[in-house]
Amino acid sequence: MSVKVFLAICCSFFCSVAVSVRADLPEYCGPQNYAYTPLRKDPRGEFTLKQVHVVIRHGDRTRAGASPCWDNDTAEWDCLLSSASIPTIKHDTHDIEVARVYRDAYMAGRNIIHGDCGLGHLTFKGYKQEEMNGENLRKAYVDTGFLSSNYSVHEDFFRTDDMSRTRQSAQALGIGLFPPPSSSSGKAQVVDIHVMDKLYDDIEPNANLCPKLEQYEKEFFASDMWKKHYAETTAPLLAEVQKALGLKYTLTIDGLLHVNDCLMTHLCHGFAIPSSVTQDLLDRIATELTYTSYSTFSYPSIQDYSRVGIGFLIAEMWQAMQDVIAGERFEKFYLYSGHDHTVMPFLHAFNASDYKWSPYASMVQLELLQVTNATNVDYAVRLLYHGQERRIPYCSASPCSLAEFSTYVKTIIPQDPVADCQVTKPEIMIGPRPPRLGRNQVLF
Ligand SMILES: *[C@@H]1O[C@H](CO)[C@@H](O)[C@H](O)[C@H]1NC(C)=O
Ligand SMILES: *[C@@H]1O[C@H](CO)[C@@H](O)[C@H](O)[C@H]1NC(C)=O
Ligand SMILES: *[C@@H]1O[C@H](CO)[C@@H](O)[C@H](O)[C@H]1NC(C)=O
Ligand SMILES: *[C@@H]1O[C@H](CO)[C@@H](O)[C@H](O)[C@H]1NC(C)=O
Repeated sequence: MSVKVFLAICCSFFCSVAVSVRADLPEYCGPQNYAYTPLRKDPRGEFTLKQVHVVIRHGDRTRAGASPCWDNDTAEWDCLLSSASIPTIKHDTHDIEVARVYRDAYMAGRNIIHGDCGLGHLTFKGYKQEEMNGENLRKAYVDTGFLSSNYSVHEDFFRTDDMSRTRQSAQALGIGLFPPPSSSSGKAQVVDIHVMDKLYDDIEPNANLCPKLEQYEKEFFASDMWKKHYAETTAPLLAEVQKALGLKYTLTIDGLLHVNDCLMTHLCHGFAIPSSVTQDLLDRIATELTYTSYSTFSYPSIQDYSRVGIGFLIAEMWQAMQDVIAGERFEKFYLYSGHDHTVMPFLHAFNASDYKWSPYASMVQLELLQVTNATNVDYAVRLLYHGQERRIPYCSASPCSLAEFSTYVKTIIPQDPVADCQVTKPEIMIGPRPPRLGRNQVLF
């Protein structure tokens, strides 16, 4: 504490570049509250929930990129949140006696960012955001009797990619959704969080899984549309940002993603940003990055891009829904804890995005509903973002009838992954990787 106070005092004397905290946090920092839209009466019949797929972006985190943000960056990160675990042997045991856990302790002063936090780690704030998501899901699905009040390996499936912030986000959400029962046996509950090798994980669009994705992104960045936009908007903006921050390297779109991440992580935590970065400049950076992302997500079309990208994940959800309809599967609750590049392409695949950057802890729900009336049993699918119902534009209504949903979903999932993913323009594959794909392991 005293260190922080000292720095703050120092700062007011020496850091002419620094400005004080803005009162209202950007939307990017995460939802402050959340209201779930309950099912309404529908003339088509009685709606009953059968299965739900929840897709989240991890909560608030430290900055993801290793490069320094700007000169005289005064942010000092204090990581309240840590992680503790033990090695376990059996896969089929869901309660164990725990006599000891091992805690990760990041050594202060030994990391890239000042303080005792790792790069891209979930913060305590991010943890609370996901716990709140879990509590809201509990109100929506446990208090209504859809899910039993305890975690059950037969009902609930948690999945994340193999990264610390997404794993901890799943854990935090799990605490809110299924608060651990006080144990009389002295045993601790074991909740499975499913992961896979990162190389071929489909929780984000992944060019290792589907090389055609890289072709499309390269084609987009070689298109006349992009070149025109780059010359008119991107290049002048990069020059302006480079000047405003006094950067000694040439800023690229990749670099702008990093700079934006620096600005957002600072703003969300009340750390000073250079006063040369005005609200107007912040807004234009955000507009440029959302434009670039959503343009790639729409190239060559929303559906084509999805089929080589996030469509792999959607296909898994669609399979699970069909298994429930066929009476062959019984998991009711699925969590996918991912990134902005999970949530944004996912919503966009359904053509239901708002063309904004998905905030920390943003959440999508895809509910499979049974529709029963006097003459018929049918199914429907409802899409919610931040608890608000969204009509899938392809569908005539929300919830979307199974017939319409099934027709549309087939246009956004790979039908024949080997053929769909085949590179058809090998000449374009030579040359630098497109911006986001170039960031390699540093996920935002
Ligand atoms: C950073 O701080 C140093 C020393 O206080 C100062 O000389 C320098 O001009 C500052 N850099 C910027 C970009 O403000
Ligand atoms: C939940 O688990 C606790 C402890 O294992 C048990 O005492 C309680 O009865 C369970 N509740 C339900 C609804 O199954
Ligand atoms: C029952 O549902 C079916 C299909 O959803 C519909 O065609 C039919 O009109 C409905 N019947 C009544 C009585 O609402
Ligand atoms: C997306 O939805 C809009 C309406 O919101 C519609 O005009 C447009 O044709 C749709 N695009 C695609 C590719 O489905």
